[in-house]
Amino acid sequence: MAASTGTTPREGWSSRSAFILAAIGAAVGLGNVWRFPTLAGENGGGAFVLVYVAFVFLLGLPLVISEIFLGRTGQDDAVGSIRKVAQRSGVSEAWSGFGIMGVVAAFLIVSFYSVVAGWVLYYVGVMGADFVGALAAGDPLRGALPGESQEAIQGRMGDLFADPMLLLAMHFAFMGVTLYIVARGIGSGIEAAATVLMPMFFVLLIGITIYGAFAGDMGEALAFLFTPDFSKLTSQSLNTALGQALFSLSLGVAGLITYGSYIKGSDGLGSTSLTIAFADTGVALIAGMMIFPIVFAVGLDPAAGPTLVFQTLPFAFQTMPAGSLIGLLFFVLILVAAVTSSISLLEVPTAWGIGEMGWSRTTSALIFGGSAFLVGIACLLGYNVWADVRPLGFWDLFADTDILDTIDGFTGKVMLPLGAFFTAIFVGWRADRRLVQEMTGLSGSWLALWRFLIAWLCPLAVGLILVTGLFPAILGS
Ligand code: PHE
Repeated sequence: MAASTGTTPREGWSSRSAFILAAIGAAVGLGNVWRFPTLAGENGGGAFVLVYVAFVFLLGLPLVISEIFLGRTGQDDAVGSIRKVAQRSGVSEAWSGFGIMGVVAAFLIVSFYSVVAGWVLYYVGVMGADFVGALAAGDPLRGALPGESQEAIQGRMGDLFADPMLLLAMHFAFMGVTLYIVARGIGSGIEAAATVLMPMFFVLLIGITIYGAFAGDMGEALAFLFTPDFSKLTSQSLNTALGQALFSLSLGVAGLITYGSYIKGSDGLGSTSLTIAFADTGVALIAGMMIFPIVFAVGLDPAAGPTLVFQTLPFAFQTMPAGSLIGLLFFVLILVAAVTSSISLLEVPTAWGIGEMGWSRTTSALIFGGSAFLVGIACLLGYNVWADVRPLGFWDLFADTDILDTIDGFTGKVMLPLGAFFTAIFVGWRADRRLVQEMTGLSGSWLALWRFLIAWLCPLAVGLILVTGLFPAILGS
């Protein structure tokens, strides 16, 4: 059924470094700069960070290798790639079912991801207008939003949420950009975007962190992030840390299977995967070191939750030197990170439509981008006209969760861990061992270590955390 058997060769990355850059672009996103600092703040800092990093390297990294292995071996969309590996391994093609789940998860995630990225876009506008005002006043280095009270600044988020048309416009703009890039294809779309945006992202990240080190309270931030207090860990925070590690590395939604399928070369996957995991984790930690010095400098609460970036920081920028400019750059940075991730999410169902349904890239991107846009509308209405809707209200875990948080929670707590679990079982136990060895390029003790982690530790740990996370009553917490 694969459309790639036609006359035109299947698309691919221009080089190994192009793949690495695109994969880092996929991994580094709202998860790193918005969610990681939020969760670290809410879960008490140091101990959570330590557990998170351990999960990334013990569970995440072996899964990164596995997903890229599947895509690179299959050279097809996620479902087709798993099917091909199953065929070559002589096991049931039904395994490709977890690929379908990944495609659905990626589709659901991009629909709310675009809504959240839309908030970021709105703040780029707010901060941009403010900086233009600062320039006009001949004082480009002043703090942000001077004269606005803390209530007024924090109220901006509430005002945005109360305005469905504004939310819709932002969501539309962001999804439009995502769709446009994906429709242009791997080379001139996704790779080109990553090549421009990722260097820009890193310059902004380093620049604002250095700024925070001088203008903010780096000492307190480092103590908060890196002094573990294990009494603050609960079974829920373990579950949260795992979900975050999977989400941040783009695992469990077939994203790396899809991106891996565009690899043409034959380099080993070990160092490639390690680079991706290091970059993603490094960015999350640096994002913490960028945000918390500013939060602490102004004496604000690190545990503010999801509003940390949208309410706490804009207020902090008011009193900071050049806060107007830094505030603008800060939101541009988040937006850039969000774009390179959302294109990887939309690429998963788009590739599925091309590979399994035989659609053209443009048709497939339009169908899935368009439908994700519609699901996103339901999410944003959940903040105003549908504020009382609880899609999974019958389920304890989601009893009081609005539409966006339900989709976020269900994908993050259920679909991603399940996807990771099946990937580990399939690659660790069912895939042909010689094929795995040949296509990952792993050998000797690295191969043995990876095999232990993927076949034993991943299924056990992910399975355990999945069950205890879904049924907290088991642990009585
Ligand atoms: N890793 C991205 C982030 O941290 C989100 C993402 C998840 C992207 C799954 C692709 C696939 O924001």
